[in-house]
Amino acid sequence: MTVSAPSSLPVDRDWWRHAVVYQIYPRSFADSNGDGVGDINGIRSRLPYLASLGIDAIWVNPWYPSPMKDAGYDVSDYRAIEPVFGTMADAEALITEAHGLGIRVILDIVPNHTSDQHRWFQAALAAGPGSPERERFVFREGRGPNGDEPPNDWQSEFGGPAWTRVTEADGRPGQWYLRLFAPEQPDVNWNHPDIADEFTETLRFWFDRGVDGFRIDVAHGLIKDADLRDLDGMGFPLPDDTPEGVEHPHWDQPGVHDVFRTWREVADSYAEPKAFCGEIWVGRDHRLTAYLRPDELHTAFNFNFLMAPWLAGAMREVITSTLNAHISVGAPATWVLGNHDVCRPVSRYARPQELLQPGFPNLQAYLGLPVDLEAGRRRALAAALLSLALPGGAYIYQGEEVGLAEVEDIPLDARQDPIVAGTDGKDVGRDGCRVPLPWALEGTSAGFSPDGAAAPWLPQPADWGTHSVEAQDGDPSSSLELYRKALAIRAHHPALGDGEMTWVDPASGSGPSSLRQAQDRPSSGSVLAFTREPGFACWVNFGDEPLPLPEGATVLVASEELSGGLLPKDTAAWLQLP
Ligand code: GLC
Repeated sequence: MTVSAPSSLPVDRDWWRHAVVYQIYPRSFADSNGDGVGDINGIRSRLPYLASLGIDAIWVNPWYPSPMKDAGYDVSDYRAIEPVFGTMADAEALITEAHGLGIRVILDIVPNHTSDQHRWFQAALAAGPGSPERERFVFREGRGPNGDEPPNDWQSEFGGPAWTRVTEADGRPGQWYLRLFAPEQPDVNWNHPDIADEFTETLRFWFDRGVDGFRIDVAHGLIKDADLRDLDGMGFPLPDDTPEGVEHPHWDQPGVHDVFRTWREVADSYAEPKAFCGEIWVGRDHRLTAYLRPDELHTAFNFNFLMAPWLAGAMREVITSTLNAHISVGAPATWVLGNHDVCRPVSRYARPQELLQPGFPNLQAYLGLPVDLEAGRRRALAAALLSLALPGGAYIYQGEEVGLAEVEDIPLDARQDPIVAGTDGKDVGRDGCRVPLPWALEGTSAGFSPDGAAAPWLPQPADWGTHSVEAQDGDPSSSLELYRKALAIRAHHPALGDGEMTWVDPASGSGPSSLRQAQDRPSSGSVLAFTREPGFACWVNFGDEPLPLPEGATVLVASEELSGGLLPKDTAAWLQLP
């Protein structure tokens, strides 16, 4: 069956070069049946809201059958729907209805690992050492006299060794299997032809149902060093001055590019334009954009931007290096402030930015630093205007549009992220950005669930409803209305979306400096300003002093009210130039 896109989808082969994609974490978006967990019919009920927000596409986190040991990233069947979320008919209705509103649908594919309940892993356990069934995963004998040490020194992203030992049919401790995440997420062996076939078939299955693209989970992890060589202390991402040829044994292995060349052929075999976005944490820009060569992925998340502190110099540097790297392969950049794995931007920017350490930006990294949520909120709004003005596409994680902060005080025993168990509670994990959304001022779970429903799967703060969609709808000073206004301007302004930008230096009055020239110059001052043709400028004031805007410019939208025509601290403005 091949469903062609309904005519209500804009005819636009390059939609992915400029799309604003709204990320839906289905467990926490909207609960239609009152079990305290969000579901597909909940998403369907909020499609008019998403249309009113003005986004171009939704990305739905995994909705496949799963034992939920890692919130759906442990998939037991790639071509079906998790009953907690609904049915295949619900999913098909969602795709059709979204298309009817001009919204494209991106799914999340998880090719690095399956669930331990996947039929293949169950077969591998049953078949025993040396069997063809075990070849689909990464089974090895342990080290040490009794094989009771893991096969190598790799570590799980969720804490502890990356290996789990199985009990064989005879009841004795046996082989170990690789799992870079939770024990219930065995890594698959991408050198096995069944794996490649399974995933290309899965892509086709969903493309045939009208899905417009995929976000690819842990895209840089699929291929492992052939000898499973030890890390011997090697960290990741590799430092900027790493010589060519030095590779990490399980992240960003060169062989991974062959996988995506095949996937690109699958996408390109459709008449409608299908697109990929890779979840690729590799640090160095040129290693990221290697995935975006014309025969590989269309886009990748820009995590360097997400991780940059709210400081003019750092922001300017990351924007410049991002754009230069993407220009070199002809791919559009993406601008990302948050997702379901990281501390919400309001709470990240609420910390003293000079004190932030490089590293994975989940809540644990910020605990203990002083918090100024007011500053965080202002900066997150300014960052939103900045990111929507930059060349390329942008992502909005559900709740960012209403300015939600991270929920930092979820008790450890209510937290569900496997990171908490994996680290014996030393890391609080990622639940604080996954709290079910507030839709209404009052009512059961602030409108997340229908009246009389079970408690939401994660506890919501007592004042959650004050941040709700209902509390902000129609209030011109609200975060929600700022997003709506900016997205409406972006949809029609010829300078916005894909294209180019030019830094301007407001302080020296020296006029434009081209992007390439700007590359190596350390940024000075506390303002970022750039223009885009025709006639558009974005100014962001990071400093304490209110800033005069260029003469003759009209303010299209600003993240705070201007005071006496001046741009206040931590504020961004979009300008129409004469
Ligand atoms: C990705 C997902 C994250 C998940 C992990 C393992 O990083 O975004 O939520 O835990 O992969 O699948």
